[in-house]
Amino acid sequence: MSYLMPVYQPLDIEFQHGQGCYLWDRQNKRYLDAISGVGVTLLGHAHPDIHTEIVAQSQKILHLSNLFKHTWNERLAEKLAQITGLTQTFFCNSGAEANETAIKLARLYGHQRGIQCPKIIVMQHAFHGRTLGALSATAKPDYRQAFGPLLTGFEFVAFHDFAAIEMYQNDPDIVAILLEPIQGEAGVNIASPFYLKQLRALCDQQDWLLMLDEIQCGLGRTGTWFYYQQAEICPDVLTLAKGLGNGLPIGACLTHPKLGELLQSGLHGSTFGGNPLACRVAYRVLDLLETHYLSSIHAKGYQLLDLLQSKLTGLNNVQSVRGVGLMIAIELIHPIENLTKIASEEFDILVNVTQGKIIRLLPPYIINSVQIEYLAEQICGLLKATHPKEKVA
Ligand SMILES: Cc1ncc(COP(=O)(O)O)c(C=O)c1O
Repeated sequence: MSYLMPVYQPLDIEFQHGQGCYLWDRQNKRYLDAISGVGVTLLGHAHPDIHTEIVAQSQKILHLSNLFKHTWNERLAEKLAQITGLTQTFFCNSGAEANETAIKLARLYGHQRGIQCPKIIVMQHAFHGRTLGALSATAKPDYRQAFGPLLTGFEFVAFHDFAAIEMYQNDPDIVAILLEPIQGEAGVNIASPFYLKQLRALCDQQDWLLMLDEIQCGLGRTGTWFYYQQAEICPDVLTLAKGLGNGLPIGACLTHPKLGELLQSGLHGSTFGGNPLACRVAYRVLDLLETHYLSSIHAKGYQLLDLLQSKLTGLNNVQSVRGVGLMIAIELIHPIENLTKIASEEFDILVNVTQGKIIRLLPPYIINSVQIEYLAEQICGLLKATHPKEKVA
């Protein structure tokens, strides 16, 4: 029996150690990790510089609480301000908490404007986390229905349908739009830069906040620091987590000073949020991305997408292959039972399946072109093996 609550159904592999893009199990079998702990270990496993930072900080101070000043939360917030244009940050420990902060900010903003019951426009198929606030902004009925009543004040509209949002122009209670510019959990649904520009213009016109959840698609994943930069816009609120600590838990909610100053002393907080260890490591992650990895993500993503598209197009069960940078989905027509198990056992690769039939790839940014070729080859083999009678063009 397990002493863990049965919320997860992990594969029966016990990894012993990792290095770069690879993980090894008890039998010393090696796997290529193409999911990075669901978009977390951007720099791969056991990165020597991350190791050095963890050791150095743990020899000094692990935790202080927010009762005392330290340098690392300030330095990290300053670095984030440089790369986002948003100069006020609140640190927390996860994506859900970052989104809770965003939701609270939107409500504060509404109250400041005299709106008693502020409402936020959110997207169908959105995933923003499992805490009650973030869950209320999350669309999937399977995640929501057991936990009612959820928070009110969320209006769901179809993703990428600008007309659906324009309908709310005369609703005086709307204060914000919250969306993932690329929906990850939903299977890599990509908002176009044009749509994001339209949302920015509408928010400006209506005095609504544009709140972007780049927890999965941010921090270089799409080839630029943030996906919104490809639309040449800036959000009012940005939420980050996942890869920020390369595996150490840290989340962040960023905004501009006019909004950030609403969160006055005592209104919000977190015991662990912004601790020296997580902030120091995150600072190093950003530094390494900037100096070594960010510039090559676009080309790596293009190589992988191109290889997958050419190898998989002829397979009958493949509906589409899409992605931006190193965030790639292969949507199947029919679900394949135990796909991730077969991928790991027979093809030595770790992939994720979301929505039952969408293979999601979020490889670490350190992946090289030989590993990209191998990954594409193995995925092609996997899909042929699970549909042996189908022909490849
Ligand atoms: C876009 C997005 N937002 C929020 C979250 C929630 O993050 P966490 O699991 O760290 O609470 C996730 C996690 O998958 C996510 O992909």
